Amino acid sequence: MIVGVPKEIKNNENRVSITPAGAYTLVNAGHQVIVETKAGEGSGFMDEEYISAGAELAANAADVFAKANMIVKVKEYVESEYQYLREDQLVFTYLHIANDASLADALLESKTTGIAYETIRGKNGGLPLLAPMSEVAGRMSVQVGAYMLQNYNGGSGVLLGGVPGVMPGKVVVVGGGVVGLNAAKVATGMGADVTVFDINAERMAYIDDISGGRIHTQFNNPYNLKEAVKDADLVIGAVLIPGAKAPKVVTEDMVKEMKKGSVIVDVAIDQGGCVETSTKITTHDNPCFEKHGVIHYSVANMPGAVSRTSTIALSSSTLPYVLKLADKGVDALREDADFMAGLNTYKGKVTFKGVADALGREYTDPKAALQEA
Ligand SMILES: NC(=O)c1ccc[n+]([C@@H]2O[C@H](COP(=O)([O-])OP(=O)(O)OC[C@H]3O[C@@H](n4cnc5c(N)ncnc54)[C@H](O)[C@@H]3O)[C@@H](O)[C@H]2O)c1
Repeated sequence: MIVGVPKEIKNNENRVSITPAGAYTLVNAGHQVIVETKAGEGSGFMDEEYISAGAELAANAADVFAKANMIVKVKEYVESEYQYLREDQLVFTYLHIANDASLADALLESKTTGIAYETIRGKNGGLPLLAPMSEVAGRMSVQVGAYMLQNYNGGSGVLLGGVPGVMPGKVVVVGGGVVGLNAAKVATGMGADVTVFDINAERMAYIDDISGGRIHTQFNNPYNLKEAVKDADLVIGAVLIPGAKAPKVVTEDMVKEMKKGSVIVDVAIDQGGCVETSTKITTHDNPCFEKHGVIHYSVANMPGAVSRTSTIALSSSTLPYVLKLADKGVDALREDADFMAGLNTYKGKVTFKGVADALGREYTDPKAALQEA
């Protein structure tokens, strides 16, 4: 297989889909890897490292897309990349087409095989190619929250860890999944007073166990949450209902009662946000806005700002799948139902139910679609 690695061109996206270590693994397995020049630079991986790993360099994106049978990317295609989609090419990346009808159309019209990281299932449940980025975003949410609490950013001037003789800051994490637990760990490590709100008793028991009770947990209901949000210095939104828009569990009334200069980091913004006042997606260039005296941070691609860590985390998780696809093409999906769940578009058909429903398109079972081929 000829595996192509284009440079990401989305605003402030510094990740790259395959590291030199990944290229080395693929080349040793008998594949050819073509990397666009400077594709890895934003993550600290230089062209020479790819060459030493056995990859070839291409001068521009058009060259990579023209030569490869399989494209591995990080982010979904932006409009200027649609021209490269074609029927005999397999695309493996975050696609998020339930929210992007124009990319869905481009994939369907070109009949490209579109396999999405975000819908591949894990052997023990979960979404293994989403989890590494949730870990990054969860840990980062406390870092950015602590920074925004500083006075010169408009924050209330609270140091999350407090100091001896001064109480620590209060952090409320709503949703104790991968993002929430990682946020809670970092906030606890800083010395903050942390409470995680969830509706899943088992999950809260797990968090209580692994933290030795240092992370407090509370059943989420509007009454409990209202009291906690009122007192919080930092609120982190991390609720996910798979396949659905995030519910607005932190209401505008709750935000109105928060202290001036407190901070909300709505990590769930990529699913619409779980805080009613997180009304817009922001970018790393201009990540915050203020509402009711509270600073809101709502960047939808947080991991892009810590590209070195994110690239290594993501590419290490995707590599086993990349290798299987390079070895076997779509046969790799036929052999593994969890991997097949990643197939979103195939020969002009929508093969993921959630995407078909969200876009109001006809759904074709992926197994049937692959059998017809
Ligand atoms: N902004 C970014 O850059 C970025 C990066 C990674 C992930 N995310 C997003 O962060 C969100 C969380 O992801 P995750 O991987 O932690 O998901 P997850 O499935 O691991 O966790 C979600 C948690 O929410 C809980 N929950 C569901 N309904 C709830 C409710 N009403 N009240 C309280 N808790 C509730 C669930 O029980 C679960 O524990 C997702 O929307 C994900 O896409 C955003």
